[in-house]
Amino acid sequence: MTRFPDGFAWGVATSAYQIEGAAAEDGRGPSIWDTFCQRPGAVRDGQTGDIAADHYHRWPEDLDLMAELGITAYRFSLAWPRIQPPGSGPASAAGLDFYDRLTDALLARGITPMPTLYHWDLPQPLEDQGGWMARDTAYRLAEYASLAAQRLADRIGLWITLNEPFVVTALGYALGTHAPGRELMLAALPAAHHQLLGHGLAAAALRAAGVARVAITNNYSPAWPASRSEADLTAAAAYDAVQNRLCTDPLLLGSYPGLAAFGAGPDGPGCVRDGDLAVIAAPVDALGVNYYRPVRVAAATGSPLPFREEPIPGFPVTAFGWPVVPAGLTELLTTLRDRYGDRLPPIYITENGCSVTDEPAADGSIDDQPRIGYLDGHIRAVADAITAGVDVRGYLTWTLMDNFEWAEGFGQRFGLVHVDFESQRRTPKASFRWYRDLIAAQRG
Ligand code: BGC
Repeated sequence: MTRFPDGFAWGVATSAYQIEGAAAEDGRGPSIWDTFCQRPGAVRDGQTGDIAADHYHRWPEDLDLMAELGITAYRFSLAWPRIQPPGSGPASAAGLDFYDRLTDALLARGITPMPTLYHWDLPQPLEDQGGWMARDTAYRLAEYASLAAQRLADRIGLWITLNEPFVVTALGYALGTHAPGRELMLAALPAAHHQLLGHGLAAAALRAAGVARVAITNNYSPAWPASRSEADLTAAAAYDAVQNRLCTDPLLLGSYPGLAAFGAGPDGPGCVRDGDLAVIAAPVDALGVNYYRPVRVAAATGSPLPFREEPIPGFPVTAFGWPVVPAGLTELLTTLRDRYGDRLPPIYITENGCSVTDEPAADGSIDDQPRIGYLDGHIRAVADAITAGVDVRGYLTWTLMDNFEWAEGFGQRFGLVHVDFESQRRTPKASFRWYRDLIAAQRG
């Protein structure tokens, strides 16, 4: 493995709803995921994040695992329904106390805290008022940002506003496979704009409260056309426009990509007001990049969407069925650099990882060689991008430990640490030791 630059951040990422549990403790209010999990058929086997990996109670043990791993940065998310249960009004002291303790405990272990404000757990009362389809939710995010920053600002290395606003728009509001489960199809575009506006307003609120470095995280998938036919090339460009550009062009270029293929007019989402794009495009200090896989795209007919996904032959697949294509990460990073040039801020890989069917052997050990292969390939792909001149400052794998994988419930295991969800016993997998050794070699 090549040597990464000095100061390169090595870490893991998690999110509140996926690990914390304690859904009704210390005044936490319901989020859209609590509600969605109650909907029959929404989540595999009717599972919920009520207990998840019980991190809310077991966090000291989890932080010890992080210290053993030797990471220098930890990306976690703050639960909005813990900090401000109604989604407006004053903060809950108990909610802030939890993240205050966590932050201090990370710093005591030499780990830089990288919180995400919003990783999908919108307070239910805000959804009842329209959720991300309502412009007001953007202002609520900024208010919540200020409450959180007033308590934590001085101790945070890099503050991420949103996780994957496109995924929230597509799965939560267009297709309805994630919370809040709305099926608005092409009419969901305002949810993207309101999240981006919320990002811009929240970034300003964070800075006003003294946060030094602000970022946003998007999910990217290189769009590979299924053939060289005109129809497939057009379909791949349309996919690229929503998946890769809808939530990045406004941030870095101050304009939306053309969305005519989605029936959108010249302002894209159809709800953009004067001045919004300037708020959204205020410079950020870093861009968070989540990468899991490329997507092969073909033209679709008879569907509201102008494209469909096809399997990519010739690559191994994860337990989720996602193709393992490390070179896709190098391609993505160099494409971002070529597309945005000197407007592209430094990049952190804020998520990258894979699900594996990790059944413990008779002696309890978990030999997850496919995960080691995945991580090794993708970390090398980051090194290739750095060699090609892309400014990447850190790599945070998804994820520390097995967790509640959204609509898949506990069915997909992405962790370096195995969690037995009956006993909550944590068992580091072979990949944990592999990553620990890699970090030690890089830091040594
Ligand atoms: C999300 C994570 C999720 C992971 C794997 C990312 O899009 O940010 O919360 O667990 O993908 O599906």
